[in-house]
Amino acid sequence: MRAMQYPDYGSEPRLVDLPVPEAAPTEVRVRVAYTSVNPVDWKQASGKIRLLMPQRRPCVPGYDLSGVVDAVGERVKTFTIGDRVHIRIPMSSAGANAEYAAVPADHAARLPDAMDLVTGAALPLAGMTALQGLRDVLGLDLDGDSRRVLVIGASGGVGHFAVQIAAAAGAEVVGVCSGRNADLVRSLGCRDVIDYTQPGCWAGVTPFDLVYDCVAGDPAPYLVHLKRGGAYASCMPSAATFLHAANLLGGKRVRPVLLHSNAADLGALDQLFVAGKLRAVVDRHFGLEELAAAWAHSRSGRARGKIIIDVAT
Ligand SMILES: NC(=O)c1ccc[n+]([C@@H]2O[C@H](COP(=O)([O-])OP(=O)(O)OC[C@H]3O[C@@H](n4cnc5c(N)ncnc54)[C@H](OP(=O)(O)O)[C@@H]3O)[C@@H](O)[C@H]2O)c1
Repeated sequence: MRAMQYPDYGSEPRLVDLPVPEAAPTEVRVRVAYTSVNPVDWKQASGKIRLLMPQRRPCVPGYDLSGVVDAVGERVKTFTIGDRVHIRIPMSSAGANAEYAAVPADHAARLPDAMDLVTGAALPLAGMTALQGLRDVLGLDLDGDSRRVLVIGASGGVGHFAVQIAAAAGAEVVGVCSGRNADLVRSLGCRDVIDYTQPGCWAGVTPFDLVYDCVAGDPAPYLVHLKRGGAYASCMPSAATFLHAANLLGGKRVRPVLLHSNAADLGALDQLFVAGKLRAVVDRHFGLEELAAAWAHSRSGRARGKIIIDVAT
């Protein structure tokens, strides 16, 4: 099968020919249609986060995929051949950027009939990070929550899902992005937009109950905009996040977000999609062999929504 593989840390992914994997007893094998890029893909390949997140090399990178089940492990009862599925592959495995991937069945979800395979590939990692950050770390009540929520990086992979999830809960969402993305994030549910490229953009901003930082991990610039009793979370936690997390700063909580992928949360995102409350914004498609170019685009920090890799076409 065709697969993209990087040989060792610091090298770019290149096309290789690999044997089609077998499905282990608890796995399904998926004929991959699409994958999507997440910054962790190229960060791991660079070797710069090897102490925190090591990866076996050579490595077929990629965590998100959608496709069709074409083999089922003997202990799997929940899927049959022909099912359309998607998954965020657990961190220890990766392997999405190939024509076939054997993945743990208990992390996969069947795609709703209404969901296209591109959305299926866009949603898992970024969508679950958005959901878990808002619901589990910041304490947003998905069944109804009218608080003021600030999403920093509102036009990115995680941020654009976070805006929609918070808006669907009833929150008053404000997004931070550059001016070129203002219309996009408004269309996703932001009531207001702060263009961080404009001097004085924070003047007169009403304080927030919850701040979800999808860009960086230093809460310091935002604590002044957080109400007493409010909470700040970052999915890009840094030393500053952990330093602040140890203190209750004027009754303000600071917390890191660390994704725990699971099929139940993927299903919750699928339900939001079916209800018309969540969509994936696609920045650009790349072919499988163009993975290095897709990573370069992601590395630029300017992606709007998700970058998709067309594997089957
Ligand atoms: N902790 C976890 O488990 C976890 C899970 C998922 C992701 N992450 C991490 O979270 C980060 C975000 O991931 P992602 O997939 O959302 O990245 P992404 O899609 O590459 O984010 C790109 C977006 O960031 C925006 N942006 C860049 N600088 C900004 C700034 N100073 N203020 C506001 N917006 C800014 C850009 O908008 P403009 O062009 O308008 O600036 C762009 O739309 C990455 O570092 C990723 O590794 C962590």
